[in-house]
Amino acid sequence: MSTNTLTIPTQRVAQSRISELDFNNMEFGKTFADHMLVADYKDGAWQTPQILPYGDMTLSPATSALHYGQAIFEGMKAYRNNANGDILLFRPLDNFRRFNISAARMCMPELPEDLFMQGMEQLLRLDADWVPPVPGSALYLRPFMFATDAFIGVRPSNTYRFIIFSCPVGAYYNKPIKAAIEPEFARAAEGGTGFAKTAGNYGAALMPSRNMQERGFQQLIWTDAREHKYIEEAGTMNVMFVIDGKLVTPAVSSTILNGVTRNSVLTVARDMGYPVEERKVAVDEVIEAHKAGKLQEAFGVGTAATVAQILTIHYNGTDYELPPVEEREISNRIAVELEKIRTGQLPDTHGWIYKIAR
Ligand code: COI
Repeated sequence: MSTNTLTIPTQRVAQSRISELDFNNMEFGKTFADHMLVADYKDGAWQTPQILPYGDMTLSPATSALHYGQAIFEGMKAYRNNANGDILLFRPLDNFRRFNISAARMCMPELPEDLFMQGMEQLLRLDADWVPPVPGSALYLRPFMFATDAFIGVRPSNTYRFIIFSCPVGAYYNKPIKAAIEPEFARAAEGGTGFAKTAGNYGAALMPSRNMQERGFQQLIWTDAREHKYIEEAGTMNVMFVIDGKLVTPAVSSTILNGVTRNSVLTVARDMGYPVEERKVAVDEVIEAHKAGKLQEAFGVGTAATVAQILTIHYNGTDYELPPVEEREISNRIAVELEKIRTGQLPDTHGWIYKIAR
């Protein structure tokens, strides 16, 4: 828990934009709440943060993040408990810890917990009306940090900016998806940055992902860089399978993001008594399970995607169709249970909920 109370100077918007928002019609990531938190790092220390109206900023063309990619981010969500109006953050400390793991890998300064948590809390209190009351929606929070030195030599920046802004969102995928197993390109190799949530991982994934999208597949399922033999994760989420009644997912490693939703899904599955296996998952095993009629479910899990059902898996020229979503017991039960935990409709037995004080 934070020990110091931060005083964050706040400049409020003159007029909120919330009346322009239709909570029943939100396109993911296009509408931004009124305020953002901004903190700069210089002379070896984080400076006093500020809360400002959400808006554009001015940057030098030599800003080093734009050239050498020192940029990291997190994705997290605040939910409304419609029974009492409370605003509930889901597992923010896990995102905070991962943020600093990413920072260390990218040679960026550690962020203090009180800046992350109190910044988030004060921002949320100010923009509380932007947390959607509609089931299945949330206020997506995007904390991120990037290098700000105006310098074109290759070395870690001496200055950084940390920002949190937010967007009210509905589903990232509004229908089940078709996914393709990537046989050629790689997202991450051992010793690289796969476990870090750094901008370059996403940038490097765009071309292979677009190639697959042009062929009708909304997501890639990445395979290992060495042999393209083992499943890693999907483009915007971790990936899970139900094979012969067991929930099976690739174990986290230096090439796989340690997803907060991934961990929540596995924990809820174990609570429900389902067998769970975190281990290497060979592409062949998934295809063979399909051929034997044992591949019962496939889905992606992530903060943005929540639980995204995969209807078709494409591999080496063949489309493998999976059972209809309505027949998928494990992922459907877990998705409902998690949504209830996040919105305060079920007890928080794991200490995952961080309630925003009014
Ligand atoms: C998330 O699930 O929060 C992500 O960061 C994935 C994505 C939208 C880039």
